[in-house]
Amino acid sequence: MRLHINGKVEDVSAEPRTPLLYVLRGELGLNAAKFGCGLGQCGACTVIVDGEAVFSCVTPLQLLEDKQIVTLEGLGTAENPAPIQRAFIEEQAAQCGYCIPGMMMRAQALLQKSPGASDAEIRAALEPNLCRCGTHMRILRAVRRAAGLLQSAQGSDSR
Ligand code: FES
Ligand code: FES
Repeated sequence: MRLHINGKVEDVSAEPRTPLLYVLRGELGLNAAKFGCGLGQCGACTVIVDGEAVFSCVTPLQLLEDKQIVTLEGLGTAENPAPIQRAFIEEQAAQCGYCIPGMMMRAQALLQKSPGASDAEIRAALEPNLCRCGTHMRILRAVRRAAGLLQSAQGSDSR
């Protein structure tokens, strides 16, 4: 199957019913999305498909033809982090870190649609993603900070 991931075309050999997460990690070496529950119940595997946050562990390849898939690797690099990544680093919003890639992707999907999201909207959007370490307050601060970074970047683009 042919997939569009992080702006590149990838031909993958897995059969169409294979969940995207297995192909990202097993075939393409994109390891940011994590295997947590494998059942669509924890959010560790969250990626963005056509602008929407999805659980890649329960999304078969056959639903993804002609869709644009973005994983955390597609946002920024260690040298040049995207605003959402910068914000999580600056707020030190991680304990074990296992949930954080999924949290960042769900937050990114929200901020792409609603850069001025309120605290209540951020909390509601992140609800499907679980953090066992109880890092929620730092995660919330990081998403708020990312919203500020994105808004100031947009402000300077429009000047
Ligand atoms: S691993 Fe996909 S939701 Fe838990
Ligand atoms: S930081 Fe450990 S699960 Fe969230």
